[in-house]
Amino acid sequence: MRASTSLSFLSAGAALAAGTQNITEWMATSYLSKSVNLSRNYANGVLYRGIEFAYNKTQDQAYLDFIEAQMSPVVDDSGELIDYNLSKKISLDDLRIGTNFLALWAATGEEKYKLGADTLRRQIDLTPRNEGGGMWHRDPTYPNQMWLDGIYMSTNFYALYTAWFDADNATAWDDIMLQFDLIEEHCLRPDGLLVHGYDHSKTAVWADPETGAAPLVWNRALGWYFMSLVDILDYFPTAHPGWNKNLDRFKKLAQALKEFQDESGGWWLIMNDEYPSDPRNYIESSGSAMFTYGFLKGMRMGYLEKDTYSSTAEKGYGCLVDDFITKNDNGTLNWEGTVEVGSLSSNGSFEYYVSVPIQLNDIKGAGSFMYASYEVEGY
Ligand SMILES: *[C@@H]1O[C@H](CO)[C@@H](O)[C@H](O)[C@H]1NC(C)=O
Ligand SMILES: *[C@@H]1O[C@H](CO)[C@@H](O)[C@H](O)[C@H]1NC(C)=O
Ligand SMILES: *[C@@H]1O[C@H](CO)[C@@H](O)[C@H](O)[C@H]1NC(C)=O
Ligand SMILES: *[C@@H]1O[C@H](CO)[C@@H](O)[C@H](O)[C@H]1NC(C)=O
Ligand SMILES: *[C@@H]1O[C@H](CO)[C@@H](O)[C@H](O)[C@H]1NC(C)=O
Ligand SMILES: *[C@@H]1O[C@H](CO)[C@@H](O)[C@H](O)[C@H]1NC(C)=O
Ligand SMILES: *[C@@H]1O[C@H](CO)[C@@H](O)[C@H](O)[C@H]1NC(C)=O
Repeated sequence: MRASTSLSFLSAGAALAAGTQNITEWMATSYLSKSVNLSRNYANGVLYRGIEFAYNKTQDQAYLDFIEAQMSPVVDDSGELIDYNLSKKISLDDLRIGTNFLALWAATGEEKYKLGADTLRRQIDLTPRNEGGGMWHRDPTYPNQMWLDGIYMSTNFYALYTAWFDADNATAWDDIMLQFDLIEEHCLRPDGLLVHGYDHSKTAVWADPETGAAPLVWNRALGWYFMSLVDILDYFPTAHPGWNKNLDRFKKLAQALKEFQDESGGWWLIMNDEYPSDPRNYIESSGSAMFTYGFLKGMRMGYLEKDTYSSTAEKGYGCLVDDFITKNDNGTLNWEGTVEVGSLSSNGSFEYYVSVPIQLNDIKGAGSFMYASYEVEGY
């Protein structure tokens, strides 16, 4: 039995109204005393970005020190990454930590973090492509496949790096936009949601023989994608026609997500219409956090109308705080309800997704929650 209690006493509605809560840094502080892998895994990148927000909010050096203690061991002074061998594996997931390298380089001026980002930028040019020009999610394991997850892991780093160091490279900007165009072309459904991914070669066991699309809408994959769209508008050039295209995609997806929100405020693990009533399906916390972040940021940036979306965001945030945060006896917080993985290495079926265990204190979920809470508390 865990010694933890629900945090619903915080009353998320009141927290939103008052804007004075400390949950961003409370969650961040809680992770300072949990042991977090020394890894450059994308999940670590998501947690560290959440802690970057706590640092930005409080200017408490302990957060920056933690991030640096975690990240320094994964890259050496020449920009070589640990456990990195492109002859063995080229994975879009590996690119996610690149944005953390850039943030840490900006915060500390330490050259090795810039060099680490350079290493990952070179990886993009070595990534195999499908016939449409889409980057393979992973070589050799997922040839020709594009997943929504990979859009978040790759394009946001690719675009931030290009904005900072290579802004005149029109080829790069077009290439970034092509990744979005391909995923929309193959994964968008009539109801406005997108399925998890597609296989250009249509040979994966889950691939539709006509379109190559995967059958199901997995909430976390769509959460990555929603975040990717709203974040990339920060650094993609507004003069490029792709900026408006992605804004439009973001708004349309917001509209669809509002319709698919559960009355609890959260979103189902598998979002296809026929599954909410299946007792094996459930409201999953990481996807719900990602959507909530997207709504909150979308309103702050003026992309989404407050009249239309503030109740969606409030219900979403209320669900996160009330249903997925618990408190330990020592005062630290836990993050609950996040599914460990969802992978198209599977057969892509409903049975597969619901068979994956939920992980306590999952860092992808907790990190995404901090993105959302910073939107509530940090501006
Ligand atoms: C946040 O506030 C609560 C009380 O509202 C307090 O118990 C907790 O220690 C605070 N956490 C941090 C990290 O400031
Ligand atoms: C508080 O308790 C949690 C859960 O047992 C533990 O992981 C964490 O290390 C503790 N933190 C501190 C500061 O004692
Ligand atoms: C730590 O990293 C290893 C290797 O990447 C992984 O197998 C393990 O699941 C990770 N543990 C946690 C708690 O994330
Ligand atoms: C934190 O603030 C700095 C300086 O304003 C900014 O460059 C950085 O992007 C911010 N980090 C995050 C995670 O927003
Ligand atoms: C990288 O992987 C390749 C292929 O598995 C292997 O032949 C090579 O020795 C590895 N290089 C290093 C430095 O481990
Ligand atoms: C511009 O971007 C393309 C596509 O990523 C890349 O292949 C090329 O090397 C870049 N050019 C320069 C000068 O960096
Ligand atoms: C797909 O895989 C799941 C386990 O991941 C299994 O329960 C299910 O029976 C499989 N479905 C088919 C059609 O093979």
